[in-house]
Amino acid sequence: MRRSKDHRISFVNAARRGGSAKRLKRGRELVTVEGMRILSGIQPSGALHLGNYFGMMRPSIELQEKGEAYYFIANYHSMTTLFDAAARRKNTLDVALDFLACGLDPKKSVFFRQSDVPEVTELAWLLTTLTPMGLLERATSYKDKIARGIPANHGVFAYPVLMAADILIYDSNVVPVGKDQKQHVEMTRDMAAKFNEQYGKTFVIPEPQIREEVALVPGTDGQKMSKSYGNTIEIFGEEKATRKKIMGLVMDSRTPAEPKPDAEKNLAIQLLKLVAPAAVAKDFEERLRAGGLGYGDLKKALFEQYWNYFAEARAKRAELAANLDYVNIVLAEGAGRARALARKVLDRAKAASGLD
Ligand code: ADP
Ligand code: TRP
Repeated sequence: MRRSKDHRISFVNAARRGGSAKRLKRGRELVTVEGMRILSGIQPSGALHLGNYFGMMRPSIELQEKGEAYYFIANYHSMTTLFDAAARRKNTLDVALDFLACGLDPKKSVFFRQSDVPEVTELAWLLTTLTPMGLLERATSYKDKIARGIPANHGVFAYPVLMAADILIYDSNVVPVGKDQKQHVEMTRDMAAKFNEQYGKTFVIPEPQIREEVALVPGTDGQKMSKSYGNTIEIFGEEKATRKKIMGLVMDSRTPAEPKPDAEKNLAIQLLKLVAPAAVAKDFEERLRAGGLGYGDLKKALFEQYWNYFAEARAKRAELAANLDYVNIVLAEGAGRARALARKVLDRAKAASGLD
């Protein structure tokens, strides 16, 4: 059994599905993701960006080699903040194209639209009745949205319960997400534990998996990259516009000649480390530290590395966009597989809670 530290996840029930399980520590079974069920979702709320890619997509795509992966487009969740049907339809297709272009392999992963498994909304109701108001009120994403003036509809508030249903309905063990979603996975664990306590062991308790090294990708203004901050660099942005964005990265006013002892904090260096070979990024960082490298040259290099990094995926995306029938078949097949599993878990929860 391979046991890399990164992928060592605590888990209760891998053996049930024939996964590899080994007792390592104080009664808790710690196992590799091999044989684990991995699940993650992404909202179709706008063009996907480098934060989405490095924080969620790439780790998810890597994990599909290691376990049984379920990835979905969270179109129900997008309804809490996006009220334009045509935009939702377009974004959903864009996310499907982006994910497939970036390497999601439908032969290895189950890839589907959230709303093709309506059972998840029924499970959300079962969970919502055991979810304390206080738990939801403490959700930082909810507090952030309110602080940003997003109207507080009930969906925004209940968002983590639907997310918990997404995770629990597939008996998921591992949830790869960016740091900002960790709290939601912790809330899911609370809800699952509470349900298990109330109605008997029903749900698998999932674990978040956060890639610490790319925990938060900074945006063009240095804040967390996010669609809602308007500071994104898109994965498949148009060439000219993206070059402009990168050339517009906010830098300080030190002259090129000045040494910059804090080079590792430079925004362009941080982004370069994501898209350039390690040796190239290191070389630029050292030149910046020593003095003599201008910000303009640094940003030019960043654009080139970014453009190369996604070149293959860009070509693949164009191919997929010309073959939408294939994309729709992938999503329909994924939905069929996801739904069959969801039905089983929902029935288990209904039986446990006396709804059978
Ligand atoms: P946005 O903030 O742009 O609306 P989402 O909230 O839809 O992005 O996030 C989708 C996924 O991408 C989540 O798993 C989230 O953690 C991850 N993610 C988003 N922005 C970043 C970022 N700047 N750095 C790392 N991961 C991110
Ligand atoms: N809330 C997640 C986000 O905004 C998307 C999401 C919905 C999700 N359901 C999920 C992620 C279940 C992981 C697991 O990024």
